[in-house]
Amino acid sequence: AIDINKLRDLTGVITMDPGYKNSGSCKSDITFLDGEEGILRYRGYSIEDLAEKANFLEVSYLVIFGELPTKQQLHQFEEDIRKYTLVNEEMKNIIDGFPKTAHPMGVLSSLTSALTAFNPKVVNVDNEKEMYDTVCKTMGKFLVLATWTFRKSSGFPLNYYDNTKGYVENFMRLMFELPTGPYTINPVVVDALDKLFILHADHEQNCSTSTVRMVGSSQSGLFASISAGVSALWGPLHGGANQAVLEMLEAIQKDGGDADKYMAKAKDKDDPFRLMGFGHRVYKNFDPRARIIKKAADEVLATLGVNDPVLAIAKKLEEAALNDDYFKSRNLYPNVDFYSGIIYRALGIPTDMFTVMFAIGRLPGWIAQWKEMRLNKEPIGRPRQIYTGHPLRDFKEVDKR
Ligand code: ACO
Repeated sequence: AIDINKLRDLTGVITMDPGYKNSGSCKSDITFLDGEEGILRYRGYSIEDLAEKANFLEVSYLVIFGELPTKQQLHQFEEDIRKYTLVNEEMKNIIDGFPKTAHPMGVLSSLTSALTAFNPKVVNVDNEKEMYDTVCKTMGKFLVLATWTFRKSSGFPLNYYDNTKGYVENFMRLMFELPTGPYTINPVVVDALDKLFILHADHEQNCSTSTVRMVGSSQSGLFASISAGVSALWGPLHGGANQAVLEMLEAIQKDGGDADKYMAKAKDKDDPFRLMGFGHRVYKNFDPRARIIKKAADEVLATLGVNDPVLAIAKKLEEAALNDDYFKSRNLYPNVDFYSGIIYRALGIPTDMFTVMFAIGRLPGWIAQWKEMRLNKEPIGRPRQIYTGHPLRDFKEVDKR
């Protein structure tokens, strides 16, 4: 509650909306989201159709440029991204400066920011060709750097993009191929990753996307803005939730697998524990992405022959929550992060890389939103506040305090 006596410095009317629960910050043509009905569309196409029928680069092109690419445009896009997958050798010195224990999201944010040193000119958003090249450069380098955060922490030599393979296949190769021999890629894995990246590609004005727009609104460049987006995504209430979900499920498993005990903890207002992967600021009936991912998780685990006890705990929790008054009355349903971690785990991706996976998927959304914000010539983002601190005080010299 605000102490009205402290509002003496307030000179005008300010709308207070902490967490921007009801404030629109922009107009956007990119993503339509209906939280009540559980609808998500990119540029007018349903997420269900896109996840089923398109690949990640097709959707990235759609999100960033507004239309689905023709076959020729898609081919050219892949080709142009490839051209930018080589990373300046000096970036490796920066990577070597990090301790092996550094969290990959911290390293990724720093590396994305470091790209500004090698690309100092801020792109002219009104120049279509320049913007297109910057999009391809960002998509190419970010993928490689994202995988290098893992290679570094695992002590593996850094890998380079294979021009004969697709973007998503390259992700797996860049991560896991060792000097001892080629890495065989299972098409089921590529398909699942394509879906996961597509489902994460944009989500209107979420915390990281708003951050990208906010930073870019001061006319900072794309790499600097995306670096800030990576940091915003890292937190456990946003993208970091996928790591937190898996850690929670593992902890429940170690503790004997009693889902009910953890349900009780989540409902106890004196206990800070929350059921990670449940609840969403906007979806109040179900998260359409969670539905698609749940199905994909079942398929991938069956195809790869993985029998993960953690998945059984996840299902128990979901069932318990769906029938629980506390969860029902607060509209708390599994969100996109609840099942994504289970797939990542089945693919052998380490837990601390889960949020990096989210970042790779969200990259086209960040780029599209930054581009739209700059093309619309939006003003600098600068919210107001209600001051609740001291009134004017007399300054005392240090020896008199
Ligand atoms: N477990 C238990 N209780 C919860 C949970 C949860 N996961 N989420 C919300 N609640 C409760 C709150 O305690 C609150 O209860 P109250 O009304 O009795 O005080 C009520 O539900 C409303 O919660 P808020 O925190 O006000 O909802 P908000 O919209 O601010 O937060 C959020 C949404 C951050 C996603 C929240 O549900 C949460 O912390 N979930 C767990 C973390 C998570 O999964 N994050 C990923 C989000 S999706 C994404 O970023 C891709």
